[in-house]
Amino acid sequence: MTSAAAPVPAPVPLTLPDGRPARDAWALTPATVHVNHGSFGAVPRASLEHQAALRAEMEADPVGWFALLTERVAAARADLAAALGAAPEHTALVPNASAGASVVYANLPAAQGAEVVVTDHGYGAVTMGAERAARRWGGRVRTAHVPLDASADDARDAVLATLSPATRLLVVDQITSATARHLPVAAITAGARDRGVLTLVDGAHAPGLVDRPTEGLGADVWVGNLHKFACAPRSVAALVAPGGLRHDLYPLIDSWGARDEFPERFDVQGTLDLTAWLAAPTSWGFLEETWGWEALRAHLTAMADHAEDVVGQAFSARTGEDHRVDVGMPVNALRLVRLPAGLGATLEEADALRDRVVAEHGFAAAFTSFGGTGYLRLSVHAYTTAEDVAQVAERLVPVLCDLAAGSGG
Ligand SMILES: Cc1ncc(COP(=O)(O)O)c(C=O)c1O
Repeated sequence: MTSAAAPVPAPVPLTLPDGRPARDAWALTPATVHVNHGSFGAVPRASLEHQAALRAEMEADPVGWFALLTERVAAARADLAAALGAAPEHTALVPNASAGASVVYANLPAAQGAEVVVTDHGYGAVTMGAERAARRWGGRVRTAHVPLDASADDARDAVLATLSPATRLLVVDQITSATARHLPVAAITAGARDRGVLTLVDGAHAPGLVDRPTEGLGADVWVGNLHKFACAPRSVAALVAPGGLRHDLYPLIDSWGARDEFPERFDVQGTLDLTAWLAAPTSWGFLEETWGWEALRAHLTAMADHAEDVVGQAFSARTGEDHRVDVGMPVNALRLVRLPAGLGATLEEADALRDRVVAEHGFAAAFTSFGGTGYLRLSVHAYTTAEDVAQVAERLVPVLCDLAAGSGG
């Protein structure tokens, strides 16, 4: 980090229509500094209240509730599909991105010896599912190595070079979790299609961060979480399958929709509490009506620029090193800052650091590792303030530097 670089200013804080700070719209505890929206999201009070009202309705008349549920799910699905730039007839709702990937793994017809290609930026749980599918087919998983700072062209080439004649399925992230970067998914799916390889795009982080994230992707299946940046109550995700493969896809829970077509058969999930699915459009609408998605994304970019700069500078002031990270294709609301050596170098160490930092120091932060280096992953939303960022710089960074010194790193 060069000392001559001008500080990146914080954007003007977002407020609610009545002038209160944006943060008042969320139920987040003030006892914790929240700079990890990306892992588990955070739900606005308006949606929590809507979901609570729906639950009350369900409890007042369970039989009447379930009689009408499928129709209401279909309406919510159509709203969410429009928000994602997808056709409702190509869009199914699932509980989370993991479930969406599992639907693909469970339903692709077995092909002896078939391989699955993933990248080394893939989400661990989704990659483990790919490994199990490949084992079932008597094949294996091959991993494309994409350098952290790879350009779009280099990333595309690295992924496509890993495909072989035995590759049946390619799993690729639209926004990566550990490395907080985009991958050039449209270019990658085009190359895969030319080679006759099916594609599953993991867009877990994309809804809200990417405008109409399913449009123009060319993926056979895309999955994305509404309960991350679109702030839906947990657990809501969409699976979008525009091509013929959708006719092979069934929900993980076989229920009374089993004889229906795609996607209607996903609307029926037995006796599950689907209030989150019905309340998800409320979160989308709240963010759209309060700030507008485009303006919100611009704000998140400015806040993330500020956070990345302030926190990177705070590390540099203590270590004398450059903690900035070039991720090739950065994301508006998710940023990496390199940790001092010795911290978070493996997934297990990074997770343990996250748990320790929240329990002992009151910081909800994400730590990730890639290629043996640990990173602090900052993710912001409308409620994030410059004060939160200052807290990270002034209180969390010294804790992390002391831990690194203690680890002998
Ligand atoms: C890229 C990616 N894929 C999949 C998931 C899994 O999401 P869920 O736990 O909601 O299934 C995540 C969660 O953070 C993710 O970042």
